[in-house]
Amino acid sequence: MITFARMQLQNDLLLRAARGEKTERTPVWLMRQAGRVLPEYRAVREQVGGFKQLVETPELAAEVTIQPVDILGVDAAIIFSDILVIPEAMGLSYEVVEAKGPTFEQTIRNGADIDRLKIASPEDLQYVMDALQITKKNLAGRVPLIGFAGAPWTILAYMVEGRGSKTFSVSKKFLYTEPALSHRLLEKITLSTINYLKGQISSGADIVQLFDSWAGLLSPEQYEEFSLRYIRRICEAITEVPVVVFAKGAFFAREAMGKLPCEVIGLDWNMEIELSRELIGNKKTLQGNMDPCLLYADHETIRTETHRMLKRFGPHRHIANLGHGLYPDIEKEKVKFYVDTIKSYRAV
Ligand code: CP3
Repeated sequence: MITFARMQLQNDLLLRAARGEKTERTPVWLMRQAGRVLPEYRAVREQVGGFKQLVETPELAAEVTIQPVDILGVDAAIIFSDILVIPEAMGLSYEVVEAKGPTFEQTIRNGADIDRLKIASPEDLQYVMDALQITKKNLAGRVPLIGFAGAPWTILAYMVEGRGSKTFSVSKKFLYTEPALSHRLLEKITLSTINYLKGQISSGADIVQLFDSWAGLLSPEQYEEFSLRYIRRICEAITEVPVVVFAKGAFFAREAMGKLPCEVIGLDWNMEIELSRELIGNKKTLQGNMDPCLLYADHETIRTETHRMLKRFGPHRHIANLGHGLYPDIEKEKVKFYVDTIKSYRAV
């Protein structure tokens, strides 16, 4: 049930593109646009002492959510939070250590650990709900607000591994040695995620994205069994707003993703654009997919490559973005140049 009064948006390009409607130009937003590249973000983070405090202080989370709209001119705001708030709401708290990334003190090892987890409800993440409501009010309808969550496999990966990893071999071992427990855990994460996303929508999110950051670590068979199945259930449950599924590295699952009950599929930069369109079909909007490292190049190179990307996607059913999040050492001016290049491009 949507309890948030939907107001008319001044710029609804993103939502129209997501629904497959024609737009005057291609909308653009960037994964990790809030934080990372903006000195203005770091200044606010310093005020509260750290990343987690910022996530849990709704007024300031709202402020850094809106910064990229003001500073970079993107066509949407994405709520400043993290995918790891879900494990925490279920009972495993996390810490983010600078230059080391997130860590969990407790991890999931057996059935008793899973039994102790609760199924999260929106009230368990009231600070995110408050941040969304404040952001929505302060945006005053300028652009849509994006809500998000991690996909169940990526969340399981952190809950079992306890930290970031190149291989997530502890988590993959869990899938191979404890498939029944893996499914029990994925089930609890899925129910928590559905509650959480519905709460975000009630609090003002106009569209939601699922991040399956570690999709590329699984084999195609495992991906279907331990990830897509649960993503499909989340997509089926979220009927109120468009859903974006971004599965990093899941090139092998593109045909299956084309059949998900969602509106938008995110592509990373390894996914060839025309082949992706062919595999996914014409009924989905595609999002992406520039290599973020292009933004280390000079303006001329950025412009040429960006025009090439826009031409290959075509003017319809495309939301411009990167193939993954911005890196912290990319210059803000280059990011703005990328956004401006997209906004001033017109298909010929
Ligand atoms: O996109 C946005 O700008 C919204 C905010 C956002 C953050 N994390 C803020 C953040 C979003 C959408 C996320 C999602 C997220 N978090 C993902 C999925 C996307 C992806 O990149 O694949 C993952 C895997 C995480 C887990 C996580 N959180 C990691 C690995 C780290 C440390 C490394 C890093 O810098 O990202 C975090 C901490 C985190 N989340 C920071 C930010 C801005 C860095 C802390 C800081 O600089 O203050």
